[in-house]
Amino acid sequence: MSNSIKTAVVIGATGYVGSSIVQELVNQGQVKLIRCTSRDVEKANWLKDLCRDGTCQIEIAALHLNEGEKTLEQLQTVMTGGDVVFFCAGHEEQSPSTIDFMVSSAVSVIEAAKVTSVGTVVLTSSGGSTNPQGLKDSTPKSELLHFSDPDLQISRGRYSPAAKTLMEIKAFEAVGRNHKNEIVDIGLATTESTPRLVIMNPNLILGPQIDPSPIIKGNSLPWMVQILKKERMAEYVPNDSMSIIDVRDLAKLHIAAAVNEEASGRYYGVNQSYAWREILQEFHSILPTFYQPPPLNPDEDYGSKIPTQFDHTRKNSLGVTLRPLHETLVDLVDFFQSRNALT
Ligand SMILES: NC(=O)c1ccc[n+]([C@@H]2O[C@H](COP(=O)([O-])OP(=O)(O)OC[C@H]3O[C@@H](n4cnc5c(N)ncnc54)[C@H](OP(=O)(O)O)[C@@H]3O)[C@@H](O)[C@H]2O)c1
Repeated sequence: MSNSIKTAVVIGATGYVGSSIVQELVNQGQVKLIRCTSRDVEKANWLKDLCRDGTCQIEIAALHLNEGEKTLEQLQTVMTGGDVVFFCAGHEEQSPSTIDFMVSSAVSVIEAAKVTSVGTVVLTSSGGSTNPQGLKDSTPKSELLHFSDPDLQISRGRYSPAAKTLMEIKAFEAVGRNHKNEIVDIGLATTESTPRLVIMNPNLILGPQIDPSPIIKGNSLPWMVQILKKERMAEYVPNDSMSIIDVRDLAKLHIAAAVNEEASGRYYGVNQSYAWREILQEFHSILPTFYQPPPLNPDEDYGSKIPTQFDHTRKNSLGVTLRPLHETLVDLVDFFQSRNALT
């Protein structure tokens, strides 16, 4: 059953993922009002240009996360009247404070949804929460079965993925479910004010940045620039794989899950995992004179390494067609060139 969204709230709308969700909501043409949040309302005004033809209204509201009562009050104000809230604020600093930020922000959003009757909460998490120790690359990863161990992640100083693992656990608890999305508190899970919870688990997100600033920002794009300029990954091709999705397709998955009343729990925001050898060769085919991949490491057996496998059933149930890697990387390179990032 599908549910039309008239008013959407996007928390973290200025970010790479958040702005792509705003753009896709505009493209799909159903939403009448998109309320976007930022810590700096003035600097976020460019978001209003994403709907120039006036088919929907884009509002910018101030929001400072992780500031206790003040945050809850601000959340209730911005979420009032919303049908769905997309929570895509976050950062990946390897610090214990990242855990506190992600957990308290996501739980506050869910608690505010209960008070404001927002029916659906979609959280942008990461694939960092889906890696149990010892899982073989050949075993398809499943959203319902595979969870990282947050204590192990913390003991290894992996605070950013631990933050996502714990954010998910606490968010599920807040809607009466466990990490497998099973109902464990029937009263809470079935109360009308408890929102439907959807979680997206992407790994590497690529594709054009919507933020018009000349600076290449965010958690993934600066790293790609460094690779193309041979400032990183210059010695050998890594004998490893990377799970990738186009940011525009990830936005579509978020929205598809928001409108589908049956959607609940985690969904991989991943097209597939590609060997680095393939990714770097694609970059070479797009920029044949600018970018030459580094050599293969003679000490590595590239043929025996299997890219990470995924069970795509749940993601496919959302009905979004994902772009091939080549198209994503062509558009990414075009974007970098438009910002003079490859000089
Ligand atoms: N990019 C990737 O490849 C990738 C991969 C996997 C998972 N993720 C996860 O996806 C989420 C979104 O990533 P992204 O790449 O879109 O991040 P981003 O571009 O850095 O955007 C982060 C957003 O969070 C908001 N924010 C940060 N601190 C805030 C605070 N204290 N109060 C309120 N808002 C705050 C920022 O808003 P203002 O600055 O306007 O206030 C901004 O809109 C993150 O949790 C990230 O870890 C990203």
